[in-house]
Amino acid sequence: MNHFLDIHLTDPADLRAMIDNARAMKTARNGRGQAAPDDHQPLDGRMVALIFEKPSTRTRVSFDVGVRQMGGQTMVLSGSEMQLGHGETIADTARVLSRYVDMIMIRTYEESVLQELAEYADVPVINGLTNRTHPCQIMADVLTYEEHRGPIAGKKVVWVGDGNNVCASSLHAAGQFGFDFTFTGPPPLDPEREWLDFARGKGSTVEVVRNPHEAVAGADLVVTDTWVSMHDSQSTRGRRHNQLRPYQVDERLMAAAKPDALFMHCLPAHREDEVTSAVMDGPHSVIWDEAENRLHAQKAIMRWCLGV
Ligand code: CP
Repeated sequence: MNHFLDIHLTDPADLRAMIDNARAMKTARNGRGQAAPDDHQPLDGRMVALIFEKPSTRTRVSFDVGVRQMGGQTMVLSGSEMQLGHGETIADTARVLSRYVDMIMIRTYEESVLQELAEYADVPVINGLTNRTHPCQIMADVLTYEEHRGPIAGKKVVWVGDGNNVCASSLHAAGQFGFDFTFTGPPPLDPEREWLDFARGKGSTVEVVRNPHEAVAGADLVVTDTWVSMHDSQSTRGRRHNQLRPYQVDERLMAAAKPDALFMHCLPAHREDEVTSAVMDGPHSVIWDEAENRLHAQKAIMRWCLGV
């Protein structure tokens, strides 16, 4: 049994195997509808709990569909409707759920909730996003880059804007998959020092460049995300928009990257804020493949967790 808690906590060989397995499963499904069951049903008879303490479209639907394609069943639970939201401890919740289900995916606020759930659960726990990281998203991003451009190792990835939880997982992936990482954004929104040091410690070239046009020079992949994350107070909205306006990804910025650079955004996007529609719908963008690949990447993650 394996928990999938974070990319930096997972063996690089296992991460590579998951990406390769995801790609193989996607290829095997070629030409079949998204809802079609896989020929091989590795989750046959398994029940997976999907717990959401924050809103979700992609994570919720892609996990639900992925489990069903592999022959399993899901129950989607809202944190506020569970006793978890009314005083029952996380440890007790973990012990009880382990008697009913074969795997738990949770989207929550504090990283400590995820960690405590994993500590006390007897079944695998998957991180579906916390305030600090979003590893499933970045596994999908790696899969997407590689299916378009080949191995990501040695490539230059530029993160534009807020050094948030998705950025953190991208830094973890830089270290584990061996790509170089440049962050460009305003100083108050830099990624945590711990994550920059993790990637550097693994041998990646990691830079912080304030000028976005200088940052994207030579970029193989440009990535951005919403300017106000789900855990950020809405009272910071005006200040963040002012700080981040110079970091909007527009056609002029993409033109400063390599001619064949890809553009990614984990979605949901706020068109004309962090990215223009011209870029989202333009020739560099692979955002719909990226969204689809949540499904394939998470299927591989779930199989790794259960060893099936
Ligand atoms: N990218 C992502 O996690 O999307 P959702 O918030 O819709 O799940």
